[in-house]
Amino acid sequence: MIKICFVCLGNICRSPMAEFIMKDKIKKLNLEDKYYIESRATSYEEEGNDMHIGAKEILNLNNISYTKHKAKRLEIDDYQKFDYFICMDDSNVRNTINIFENDDFNKVFKLNKENVKDPWYTGNFNETYNDLNEGIDKILRGELNEK
Ligand code: 4NP
Repeated sequence: MIKICFVCLGNICRSPMAEFIMKDKIKKLNLEDKYYIESRATSYEEEGNDMHIGAKEILNLNNISYTKHKAKRLEIDDYQKFDYFICMDDSNVRNTINIFENDDFNKVFKLNKENVKDPWYTGNFNETYNDLNEGIDKILRGELNEK
């Protein structure tokens, strides 16, 4: 079982979108026994909140199902619970390593070479959806970007 945690700043836009897109793909590929997926925030800004309405709308548009979500910040104990922490941008990588105090087992990665833009600021959920889709297909091909 490969345990993946997607990470963004608030855990209401990018990382839960990535979580549900990947869950949809592994379901369609019959790989549900192989992967375990969750998502987390690096901040407490949105703690306990559901996914952003814009994220839900773009998932609906693309027939990706999702469940009720509760934003949750990473805690230090999460380091041992997952094999990979897949971050959306450079600041998420820095903040994730700060929360864990180190990355001794080289678990922290960035999804794409380019930062995944934050739709909280851009308002462009479609662009983010496409970037996430591309990055997740790379994970499923066994390609991950370094820090
Ligand atoms: P996300 O977007 O990191 O993709 O979930 C954000 C959502 C909320 C905030 C920042 C980014 N915020 O500061 O509340």
